[in-house]
Amino acid sequence: MTHRVALLPGDGVGPEVITEARRAVDALGLSVEWTELPWGSAYWHEHGRMMPPDALETLEAHDAILMGAIGDPSVPDHVSLWGLVLEIRQRLDLWANVRPARLLDGVPCPLAGRTAADVDMLFVRENTEGEYSGIGGRAHRGLGGEVAIESSVFTHEGVERVIRYAFELAADRRGILTSATKSNASRFGYVLWDEIAAGLAAEFPNVRYERVLVDALAARLVRDPAGLDVVVASNLFGDILTDLAAAVQGGMGMAASANLAPGSDRPGLFEPVHGSAPDIAGRGVANPAGAVWSAVLMLEHLGEEDAAGALMSALEHVCREGPRTRDLGGDAGTSEVGGAIVARLG
Ligand code: IPM
Ligand code: MN
Repeated sequence: MTHRVALLPGDGVGPEVITEARRAVDALGLSVEWTELPWGSAYWHEHGRMMPPDALETLEAHDAILMGAIGDPSVPDHVSLWGLVLEIRQRLDLWANVRPARLLDGVPCPLAGRTAADVDMLFVRENTEGEYSGIGGRAHRGLGGEVAIESSVFTHEGVERVIRYAFELAADRRGILTSATKSNASRFGYVLWDEIAAGLAAEFPNVRYERVLVDALAARLVRDPAGLDVVVASNLFGDILTDLAAAVQGGMGMAASANLAPGSDRPGLFEPVHGSAPDIAGRGVANPAGAVWSAVLMLEHLGEEDAAGALMSALEHVCREGPRTRDLGGDAGTSEVGGAIVARLG
């Protein structure tokens, strides 16, 4: 069976890390047909949009999408991101953003005394609504009385599906689900969220459910990551917590993500959590681990469990034995690390 994968290298370090992820997938000997899509900030300069008008149909004709990163200093971020990644997440209704935060052996942890045994969390971030619904507006622009309104939208259906999915994932792991809200200060959307979570908890007696305020959870993530298993959070809170979690697992270069519509046949979108990192772009020094790990998540989505396991083992081996990029204390370049992963697969 041939897997049709749309490849979206994007901006900045995106193409550099995606090259390594693709090389690693190709080395597994599966039947993969890649469609490379040149969308992103350069495309915007040429066409006045981040991707063509039929982009979503193009993507939907694939089994998965592997993406690098989007964003360039020459395009306002809200333009580039709403023109591409946020648009894709919303329009393909990829409502679950799943982000493993596991510290691999050999990767330095910024928390004193913590080892791989202490850091194995899985974040499930609501991915299409909440604080990033894109609803709002500005009036009286440029005048002293300018006003901007940004509305959060929480639908019963949107909240319930993502929390239910997180419960299911927790049931297959260590059986703890932590739900992060801020229902003491914000009294509508997060209160609805808490009520839905508490209701679902009754359906999952084997999962220990806990509700934690997101500010307190940020502190706990640093103080006691070992106590966290699956964390479910709204779009904004999940976004912030997963940067913190990425730091705890060794840095932004390590973190991977899967944007999914569980239970549907829509293609998942797989991307490292790091951005386009324009400060180091073009120098061949970016860590390809987050992109390679995202490819592992993609292979799982495609039903290639064995290949996913082999690639993850190769990534773990290289993290343990080296070579490592500079962010992990090594001095290897992107392609040297990618090459070591491929060599391990051979
Ligand atoms: C992420 C990124 C994006 C997000 C940005 C680039 C819009 O930070 O994937 O976490 O906030 O979702
Ligand atoms: Mn983010």
